[in-house]
Amino acid sequence: MANKVTIVGSINVDRILQIDALPQPGETICMQDLTIAAGGKGANQAVAAARSGATTSFIGAVGQDLDGQMMLHKLGDNQVNTCAIQVMNSRATGQAYILLQATGQNSIIISAGANADVSSTQVNANQDLITQADYVVAQFETPITATTTAFQIARANQTLTILNPAPATETISKDLLQLTDIIVPNETEAANLTGIEFTNEQSMQMIATEFFKAGVKVVIITLGSRGCFVAREGFAKIIPALSVEAVDTTAAGDTFIGSLATELAPDFVNLESAINYASRASALTVQKLGAFPSIPTRNEVEALG
Ligand code: ATP
Ligand code: RIB
Repeated sequence: MANKVTIVGSINVDRILQIDALPQPGETICMQDLTIAAGGKGANQAVAAARSGATTSFIGAVGQDLDGQMMLHKLGDNQVNTCAIQVMNSRATGQAYILLQATGQNSIIISAGANADVSSTQVNANQDLITQADYVVAQFETPITATTTAFQIARANQTLTILNPAPATETISKDLLQLTDIIVPNETEAANLTGIEFTNEQSMQMIATEFFKAGVKVVIITLGSRGCFVAREGFAKIIPALSVEAVDTTAAGDTFIGSLATELAPDFVNLESAINYASRASALTVQKLGAFPSIPTRNEVEALG
């Protein structure tokens, strides 16, 4: 049976600018197309979990504007419980400008807007959503103070925590790491946080060891088209990705995390099969444009065999 998952995180409207290549400083270029889609790391992870069958709740914020209404509807249409999403009249809904190159590579510029207003007070007011969940999941697009409060509540109530330390930062508080059960960075995030140069499997193991020392139980470093590296105490392995033609990798990591949170048994007994499920889900995501529009349902993932 799928888990109960609560996400503390960001909600953005994504504007995807399809271009051949990034402009040079001073250069003006024409885009091929502009697409608007629902996104935000937190929202993508929630939709990935819900489409895979998790009972999913969200703690976050939108502005009192049309984008905010659209995002609340989109999340609700995907069976995400939106009761703990605040509507702020002081700030606009979060925005992301995604420069998508012909290679499928993206560069993202975000405006946090209402995401910056997610607070510990709000988390405390909705703590039932955390205490009743199997997993609480957070990223770095909403304030760390709110995430730390959520993880404290989780730890005190046997709810497991998954931290996606994205977008990349140089530091992470020891307090937050101590409260993190599973950390899922990509290569850049893993190297930035530990200061260990990312070269080969040995460097991945060194990164994992740093996180273990801080109290983390499972480390999963996502490696894009190469798959991911997973480590627990006494176990480490690279699990390859499916070989597919990537159109837009936006939300690949988010799909991976939302799907993993849905599948992974709280005693981690099915770690490898849950990662295989998450890899299949994100291999589907990269084959379509946009965040929400590309995230697969459980039926679509299972149809891959
Ligand atoms: P994003 O920020 O774009 O959401 P990310 O950098 O957080 O992504 P990645 O490491 O790029 O995360 O991808 C997450 C997972 O998605 C990978 O571990 C892999 O399973 C899958 N994936 C990503 N890119 C590809 C690809 N080109 N082909 C197949 N699978 C992919
Ligand atoms: O991880 C992808 C997401 O990052 C996009 O949907 C965008 O909103 C940014 O938050």
